[in-house]
Amino acid sequence: MANYLVTGGAGFIGSHLCEELVRRGQRVRVVDSLLTGKRENLAHLPEVEFRHGDLADMDVAVRAVKDMEYVLHQAAIPSVPRSVEDPVTSNRANVDASLNVLVAARDAGIRRVVYAGSSSAYGNAPTLPKVETMEPAPLSPYALQKLVAEQYCQMFTRLYGLETVTIRYFNVFGPRQDPSSPYSGVISLFISALCDGRRPTIYGDGEQTRDFTYVANVVDGVLRACSAPEASGEVINVATRGRVSLNQLFATVKREVASTLEPIYADGRAGDVRDSQADISKAQRLLGYTPLVTFEEGLKRTVAWYRESMVAGRKA
Ligand code: UD1
Repeated sequence: MANYLVTGGAGFIGSHLCEELVRRGQRVRVVDSLLTGKRENLAHLPEVEFRHGDLADMDVAVRAVKDMEYVLHQAAIPSVPRSVEDPVTSNRANVDASLNVLVAARDAGIRRVVYAGSSSAYGNAPTLPKVETMEPAPLSPYALQKLVAEQYCQMFTRLYGLETVTIRYFNVFGPRQDPSSPYSGVISLFISALCDGRRPTIYGDGEQTRDFTYVANVVDGVLRACSAPEASGEVINVATRGRVSLNQLFATVKREVASTLEPIYADGRAGDVRDSQADISKAQRLLGYTPLVTFEEGLKRTVAWYRESMVAGRKA
């Protein structure tokens, strides 16, 4: 049994990591500011030690890593448009807090830090699929911040010998993704709108594409990255290698939900990437990773979860 700190563990992806770690019999501590995370995401995991705190405060970071072996650094303000509107708040959460976590991890002798990187680092690099060796081209403060923290990770490995791995996530979706803000992930917004009888908005012509990745795949990739011998100091894509346009996504969700509603088209978003699709051969090589759940299957499970939680919410 090992001790894992999951920063941002009350968030969408963080809570799935906690769930799997508990299932595997590991000890888990969560530190979360609850800015975007929710305490109820961990309600079913009483084994998890929960601490409320902001990792941009160094004392919080130092106390958080005490007695831990692994740090899964998921805490972030994960939104492109939110970072465009308020780059300072988003920088504090995405860069300042990450640097604190790295310094604290280095000083505490943490075995390995696995960091939640982002596909947004690739920007509009014209070649698809996106390979880790490509020159980064961030288009938004969020993308830049995620890239800076990723480079800090690599630098800490080189300078101080702290083992770090960055997993670049590609548009992760699944149960517990919060649809309540206009900044939420598009799949959560589409499903909740259609289930609620509202028309979703598509920004731009809807022909932009994404490698939508079901959350179980990311959990598998991150946990593999904790122990893969060749992974330290590396940046690794974890995705499905698929490419789905927003229009296709809308049509699929509409079918799953059995809705007759049509989307509203609005102007494209500032900082939006046009196409995103991952090359996952490095993850296959270094982590032994292959996607466990397809986009279609993941979408079915996600729709089922939103349906159940909406019914439960109405009963409450
Ligand atoms: C980006 C990153 C992703 C990261 C996420 C954090 C890329 C390629 N991906 O996702 O790795 O985890 O930020 O938030 O940069 N959209 C609509 N209607 C809506 C909401 C969104 O059409 O109501 C469109 C957006 O304009 C975008 C796509 O859907 O083209 C996906 O948006 P979103 O889910 O917010 O994620 P990204 O910005 O792609």
